[in-house]
Amino acid sequence: MTMPQQYPFSGAGLGLRRALMSPLLSLSDDDISFMEVAPENWVNVGGRLGRQFREYTERFPFLCHGLSLSIGSPAPLDWDFLKDIKQFFSEHKVLSYSEHLSYCSDSGHLYDLLPIPFTEEAVRYVADRISQIQDFLGQRIIMESVSYYAVPEGDMSEIEFLRGVLEEADCGLLLDVNNIYVNSINHGYDAEEFLRAIPGERIAYGHVAGHFVEAEDLRVDTHGADVIDPVWTLLNKAYELFGAFPTLLERDFNFPPVAELLQEVSTIRELQDGVIEMQSLEAQAQQDESHTSTTDNSVVLTA
Ligand SMILES: [Fe+2]
Repeated sequence: MTMPQQYPFSGAGLGLRRALMSPLLSLSDDDISFMEVAPENWVNVGGRLGRQFREYTERFPFLCHGLSLSIGSPAPLDWDFLKDIKQFFSEHKVLSYSEHLSYCSDSGHLYDLLPIPFTEEAVRYVADRISQIQDFLGQRIIMESVSYYAVPEGDMSEIEFLRGVLEEADCGLLLDVNNIYVNSINHGYDAEEFLRAIPGERIAYGHVAGHFVEAEDLRVDTHGADVIDPVWTLLNKAYELFGAFPTLLERDFNFPPVAELLQEVSTIRELQDGVIEMQSLEAQAQQDESHTSTTDNSVVLTA
């Protein structure tokens, strides 16, 4: 049975990158609700940069989004690395840890996030590794389904594989709507249909990002461009289906001025607010309707 999952962050966030450390010093506390970093880039960083990083972690709620866990790899889990990040999470009061549902190493690092074959065997293998990590960290971790280019072998669909892992590992989901959009074009499926099959109760938070248009039928998930309208529309659809879950803008290079990044963060917040308002109006209308029908019934009963 699925346990309800409560995560201690909400609203609209922004990924902190080294190139943004100085430009973001001008942020006001209301500009963003939370931040996210790759722990691999910050464990054991000291000196001036380390102090600057701590100022951010003391000021904003922080999440970690890992790069090198390689959950689908045949290689053993890197327990030394996991010890380091557990310590790092405690030093910086990191609220949650997310990773990619992929692998990036076998005996050595492959420097890319590769999809895991969509098979029952892989579901069990990956879920067991996630469970071991959750036990070690003492918290649920959050898995993100990745964008992929080569189609892995397998006897399940992508969504069946994703649902299987989330259920068996009892972990959270990081819903990246840009990944869904990019995959839907590269692999020819309907993004909204995929979205509707997502187990919404598993969503911990979302990502939104820009991508590169290599060709009409080939998109590359670069995080180096503005978010395009169809991806905003997909995010809004996700909010309509699952509620206004916390969402973070990922931008990894080709950085625009901070004001433009914050404008995209504001767009996330506007979509969230719009859906929250619409859903509270709908709830109110339903309440009014049930009140009216109760009153009608009482009139009939007492007549
Ligand atoms: Fe992402």
